[in-house]
Amino acid sequence: MQKLIIDGGHHLNGEVKISGAKNAVLPVMAASLLVDGTVKIKQVPDLRDTRTMAELMEVIGAKILFANNEMIVDSGFVKNPIAPYDLVNKMRASFYVLGPLVARFGKAVVSLPGGCAWGPRPVDYHLNGLKKLGAKIELEGGDIIAKAKKLIGNKVRFDFPSVGATGNIVMAAVTAKGETLVENAAKEPEIVQLCEFLVSMGAKIDGIGTTEITVEGVDNLHPVDITIIPDRIEAGTFLIAGAALGKITLTNTIPEHLGTVIEKLTEVGCDINIDDSKISVKQAKKLDAIDVTTAVYPGFPTDLQAQWIALMTKSRGSSIITDTIYNDRFSHVPELNRLGANITVEGNSAIVRGVGNLIGAPVRSTDIRASASLILAGLMAKGTTEVSHIHHIDRGYEKIEEKFVQLGAKIKRVETDE
Ligand code: UD1
Repeated sequence: MQKLIIDGGHHLNGEVKISGAKNAVLPVMAASLLVDGTVKIKQVPDLRDTRTMAELMEVIGAKILFANNEMIVDSGFVKNPIAPYDLVNKMRASFYVLGPLVARFGKAVVSLPGGCAWGPRPVDYHLNGLKKLGAKIELEGGDIIAKAKKLIGNKVRFDFPSVGATGNIVMAAVTAKGETLVENAAKEPEIVQLCEFLVSMGAKIDGIGTTEITVEGVDNLHPVDITIIPDRIEAGTFLIAGAALGKITLTNTIPEHLGTVIEKLTEVGCDINIDDSKISVKQAKKLDAIDVTTAVYPGFPTDLQAQWIALMTKSRGSSIITDTIYNDRFSHVPELNRLGANITVEGNSAIVRGVGNLIGAPVRSTDIRASASLILAGLMAKGTTEVSHIHHIDRGYEKIEEKFVQLGAKIKRVETDE
C-alpha cells in the first residue's frame, strides 16, 4: 500500500497539462470489442481503471498494446464473452462490455457489480434496455447471462439519463436489426465521444448530444483511430486547486465542457481566463461561500462535488452542496472534518461552514473523487496531512502528485504496510 504525505499551505503556480478522460476512454475501449480489427486510441490516461479495462478485454480475447498513452486494441481474436467478478468488482465500468459482447456474440456473461462506497448503484436500466432489444437476461451465481441471437431495435426510455446505460444500449444497438430510439439519454461529453467514435466506425446515429438518440442498425463496422477528449473532471479538480491556492494554467482542455464549473468559480471570486484550449484560474482574494447542486451535463458534475466541498471549507460563510445524482456520496465529509472542517450532512446535502484554515491530520480516502478532495484539503491545510488508501486516486488521476509538485506543492508518495 502507499500513502501521500502532504506538507500543506504552499502557494501553487504554473502550468499543468490535462490528461485524456477516464470516463471517455473506458466506453471507447469497450466499443472497440464490436469491430473485427485493430483500433488505435490516442491520449489514453495511464490509470488503474484503464489497465483494469485492458486486463478484462484481454480475458475476453482482445490483444492490447499500451504504451506512452497510446493503446492499440485488436479485437480480431475475441472469443470469450465473459467478464469475471474479480475484474467487475474492481471497476463498475467493466459493465460497459455487456452491450458490445451481446451484440457481437449473441451471448455474454458479465458479473453483476456489487455495492459501492457511495451506496447502491443499480444496473437495472442497462438490463431493461437490453431486454427491450430482445435479449434474454438471467442471473446465475452472481453473473448476468444475456442472450440474443440478433438484437432488434426498439424504443428504450430511461427514468434517469444514465451515462453508463446510454453507452451500453447505444453500443448494443449499432448492429441491431432496425431502429432503436433511446429516450432520456445522457448527453455527457463522454457519451458524445462514444457516439462519434461509433459513427466513425460506420454506425448510424442521430441526436448525438441530445436526450433523444436514434440508432439505425448496420451490418458491419470498420476499425478507426481516435483521440480521447481531455478529462473535464481532472481539469475541474485543478481549477478548484487554483481557486484555493494560487494561479494555475491548464493546457489541453475543452473549456465548454466546464461551463458550470467556471461559472461557479467566477461567482466565488476567482479570475478565470480562457484562451483556446487553455484555462487560467487565479485564487479569489476573498473566497465567497456559494451553494452548488449537482446535475447531469451541462450541470455541475457530481464528480466534482467532493472537491467543491473541500474548497468551501476555506470560504467565509456557509454553503449548501446538494448531490442530486447520488444521494449518499459523502464519505469524504468525516475525513474533511478530521482536518478541522465544519461540515454536516443532511439528506443529500452537505452544509459547509467555512473555517478559513484547515489543520493537517491523517485521513483515509474512500473513492476516486473523495481522494481528490482530501488531497486538495491537505494542500490547503497548515502542517502535514497523510492521505492513505490512495489506490483510489490512481484509478482516476494520472500522475496526480507529480502534477501538483510541478505547481509547487510539497507532496510525496511513500510505501506503507497498513
Ligand atoms: C458515470 C461516471 C461516474 C459519474 C456518473 C454520474 C463513468 C465510468 N462513470 O457513472 O464517474 O459519477 O456517471 O455522472 O463514466 N442508475 C439507476 N439504474 C441504472 C443506472 C443508473 O438507477 O441502471 C442511477 C444511478 O444510481 C445514479 C444515476 O442513475 O443515481 C446516474 O448514474 P449513471 O449516470 O448511470 O452513472 P454511471 O454511468 O455509473
